[in-house]
Amino acid sequence: MVGPKAYIHLDRLIHNYHVIRDRIGGSPIMGVVKANGYGHGAIECSKALVQEGCEFLAVFTFDEAMKLREADIETNIMIFSRMQREFIADAVEYNITLNLSGTDDIKHLEEFAEQSGLCPKFHLKVDTGMNRLGVPFDEAAIVLKKISTKLLLHCEGIYSHYATADEGDLTYAEWQLEQFKLVLSLADEMGLRFKYCHFSNSGTVLNMPQTNFDIVRVGMLLYGAFPSDEVPTDLDIKPVMEFRGPIISLRRVTEGTKVSYGGVWESGKDTTIGVIQTGFADGFPRNWYKSGYVVYKGKPYPIAGRICMDQFMVNFGDDKAEIGDEVLLFGENDTDSLHMEEIAQQINSTPYVLSTGIHGRTERIYLT
Ligand SMILES: Cc1ncc(COP(=O)(O)O)c(C=O)c1O
Repeated sequence: MVGPKAYIHLDRLIHNYHVIRDRIGGSPIMGVVKANGYGHGAIECSKALVQEGCEFLAVFTFDEAMKLREADIETNIMIFSRMQREFIADAVEYNITLNLSGTDDIKHLEEFAEQSGLCPKFHLKVDTGMNRLGVPFDEAAIVLKKISTKLLLHCEGIYSHYATADEGDLTYAEWQLEQFKLVLSLADEMGLRFKYCHFSNSGTVLNMPQTNFDIVRVGMLLYGAFPSDEVPTDLDIKPVMEFRGPIISLRRVTEGTKVSYGGVWESGKDTTIGVIQTGFADGFPRNWYKSGYVVYKGKPYPIAGRICMDQFMVNFGDDKAEIGDEVLLFGENDTDSLHMEEIAQQINSTPYVLSTGIHGRTERIYLT
């Protein structure tokens, strides 16, 4: 089919997995495969990770977890979203680990346990400063006490999430860590023991390796991109996604020809304009046209004019391009390279936004 293609290099995912594991001293990784594996394909990436020995996966919604189970993925799956009463029974049946982040959640679990005699596994999330989900720091004592009466057996873990782990200034992250340690001491004083304790994400793997605890939750680094331009980049990760678009038309235009919507781009001389069948509806970032380029046969070529919904244009100058060939939009292959991080930095975005944006008509092709 003609259109954008995301070549997913599973061999690079596996490489990244091992490089990260080495960096964290062999601690278990919870492979974060939410949002369709950050746009890379959750099922295929999960299978590759599990085959390498990854014992924990995480998704956001219950539906995402069920899709993995339906694909015969049997490893531990944790969901990060707020607990909903209606999926507690299925969580037991399909062995899915829930997120406990408030006193309401305790009520749901206790009621379910009273009616059925069963309870799903869950991890207690403590909010240490993200102010999103999680038991607020000052309610931690009450929640720990409540859990200790009936639910402790099913509480497999305690965790928190950093707000600024991928930033240059780690003051806030360090403060969050102190808050978390206070909660852990409190639990300890109450005699509560958890099988797993986790806090780290990609940013902390690079920035604060001392916070690894028992499991390290990793998303972006597994997919081969650095979470921000403020983290150390001394880790040999490789971009898993190679995003390419086909040249579907070529025309020679004269000097002064306006190209694309708004006519904001004008050729400075006679040149060859190629049409690439990939647009912002496929996740190609519209803002990138201002300074953006693609790579073709080892050379960069500038984007000409605004990116449209389904297509955009490239200025090939006097070079020869072929209809049917694909240009590299981001990623890496033997001859061409353009990292997502560079685009993210230029357009004031992040690799997270770019990779999860690749959806819709993009065909994923898995390479091993
Ligand atoms: C709770 C939680 N843990 C871990 C991660 C993984 O983060 P990263 O992709 O930066 O490794 C995420 C991602 O957003 C998350 O929401």
